[in-house]
Amino acid sequence: MIVLIGMMGSGKSSVGRVIARALNLLTIDLDREIERRTGLSVAEIFAIHGEPYFRQLEEEALLRLAQAGKPLVLSLGGGAVLSERGMEALKHKARVVIYLQASVPELLARLKRSRIKRPLLENAADPHARLVELLHVRRPLYERYADFTVDTDGKLLADVAQEILGVLESYSKGCR
Ligand code: S3P
Repeated sequence: MIVLIGMMGSGKSSVGRVIARALNLLTIDLDREIERRTGLSVAEIFAIHGEPYFRQLEEEALLRLAQAGKPLVLSLGGGAVLSERGMEALKHKARVVIYLQASVPELLARLKRSRIKRPLLENAADPHARLVELLHVRRPLYERYADFTVDTDGKLLADVAQEILGVLESYSKGCR
């Protein structure tokens, strides 16, 4: 299992799809998986049940996927790293965890172009400040769980995917 972590807008889902195709693996996006099981969108879960309930569903999904241990590319939601239990379980099963890093201005620009609703930003008076705040809490977690980090600022999706495929190749040769 190859796991992609990072902030919302860092490109995890798109990059996940590209590298899964290249490696002939299945890809799962944790948010879409939660939506599939609940029949609600992430935005609806936040609106109807609140963030703590979403985090509970997220942790359950992490534990389930770790338990299944299938060979796939798994893209996590930006806040999934908040679940220590889920992440520790996943770390045990994952071949590699990759942190897609991006600066706040780059994240904001990408999120503006996205059609997916991010409840944590929708309600923020100042989305820039909100992202800075979230990153402050999460960066240490991304760094703690990642085996390696890819800086995605100013890079094309295809180039980020290529960089990851290159690192994975050296991983499988055991020379890191
Ligand atoms: C969240 C990120 C989102 C989604 C939810 C909460 C977060 O996923 O899980 O809106 O806490 O950062 P993406 O990182 O895929 O946007």
